[in-house]
Amino acid sequence: MKSFGQKAWMLPQPVLIIGTYNGDGTANAMNAAWGGQWDAKEIMISMGKHATTENLARCNEFTVAFATKKTMVAADFVGIVSAKNDPEKMQKTGWTATKAEHVNAPVFSDFPMTMECRILRKIDESEEGYYIVAEIVNIVVDEAFIGEDGKPDVEKMQLITYDPVHHGYVELGKRVGNAFADGKELK
Ligand SMILES: Cc1cc2nc3c(=O)[nH]c(=O)nc-3n(C[C@H](O)[C@H](O)[C@H](O)COP(=O)(O)O)c2cc1C
Repeated sequence: MKSFGQKAWMLPQPVLIIGTYNGDGTANAMNAAWGGQWDAKEIMISMGKHATTENLARCNEFTVAFATKKTMVAADFVGIVSAKNDPEKMQKTGWTATKAEHVNAPVFSDFPMTMECRILRKIDESEEGYYIVAEIVNIVVDEAFIGEDGKPDVEKMQLITYDPVHHGYVELGKRVGNAFADGKELK
């Protein structure tokens, strides 16, 4: 084993696209890798100091879409360019925004699956940002990605994960087993 010390190398990391409304009512999006499930109906995100942070100070609602191979370039773009510096930011992504049904935030129809969320708690709030704990109010899934069992077909989505070691995006692969089941072989 080779030792690497302290690194932000939790694996695999998601590529979350956080959708909010700017002060003028236009949509914004940013990329976040430091997030995950918090509780059964709650998620967490480590939020820095961005235009998105200002948007969340005005309205505690947002969306979380899961980036795909198809949306990868624009997903990276919204992670390196701030709406504070580029008023054309969202036009450049080519994404289509409509208002979410249950929260005051944009849903980008270019993504297979999107969570509608509302902030419940801000933890360790400082000048640098805070940790969001948010309620999952609803989840919307593009019909094209609904499987025969009526549920989202994750394998179809070509989701990407963030590789923090080499700063890459890696496409998720094939299903290799059944959770809460295959392990029974060793019981
Ligand atoms: C791969 C990647 C992961 C990122 N993860 C986070 C994150 O977890 N939390 C965060 O606050 N910013 C994260 N960022 C940075 C924001 O996405 C970036 O600062 C963005 O431009 C903010 O946009 P805004 O100012 O328009 O809101 C990440 C960026 C990239 C490219």
